[in-house]
Amino acid sequence: MPKTTRVILGAFALGIAGFAAQAGDIEAGAAAFASQCQNCHNVTNAEGDVLAGRPNMRTGPNLYGVIGRQAGSYDGFRYGASLVEAGEGGVEWDEETMTAYLLDPTSFLRETLDNNRARSQMSFRVRDEATAADIIAFLTQFGEAAEDADAEAPAEG
Ligand code: HEC
Repeated sequence: MPKTTRVILGAFALGIAGFAAQAGDIEAGAAAFASQCQNCHNVTNAEGDVLAGRPNMRTGPNLYGVIGRQAGSYDGFRYGASLVEAGEGGVEWDEETMTAYLLDPTSFLRETLDNNRARSQMSFRVRDEATAADIIAFLTQFGEAAEDADAEAPAEG
């Protein structure tokens, strides 16, 4: 099977196994982001406005527009090789892939890449699917797709 197909099927299988359809709660997601994610990430739009988290937080990549983004593709961030490989193999962040990733980043990469030496540079896990769903609902608000139609379309990133 071509590698790309394998990667996509792997991500799909993980999605089904790891994701029970659940509508996240944006407010709960904001609180969870503040307590669990903003030590390493923020959400900064193309104009440089920090929409969540603190300025100059670059331990983890900017999560503005992360929903719909290819994994490991935020320009200028030094990702681990495994995450970049997953993205190049077709992994995009959506509810299913991000839920699986947040619950266990290393397992997600190992299963997706079919390589049990794959590693994640994110050493953090969300405890349960409900919290992941809340955080995803919160993050879905930030991105070009969610911006007003009359806003100037910022450059990709
Ligand atoms: C201890 C620091 C740390 C914490 C806490 C953390 N992250 Fe991360 N995160 C990282 C790093 C570093 C990476 C890059 C991983 C890699 O390159 O393998 C990353 C990557 C990601 C990615 C992939 C982004 C992309 O561009 O492909 C997502 C999504 C993500 N984190 C979401 C979260 C969320 C949501 C939380 C809170 C629940 C969180 N992270 C908490 C450090 C952290």
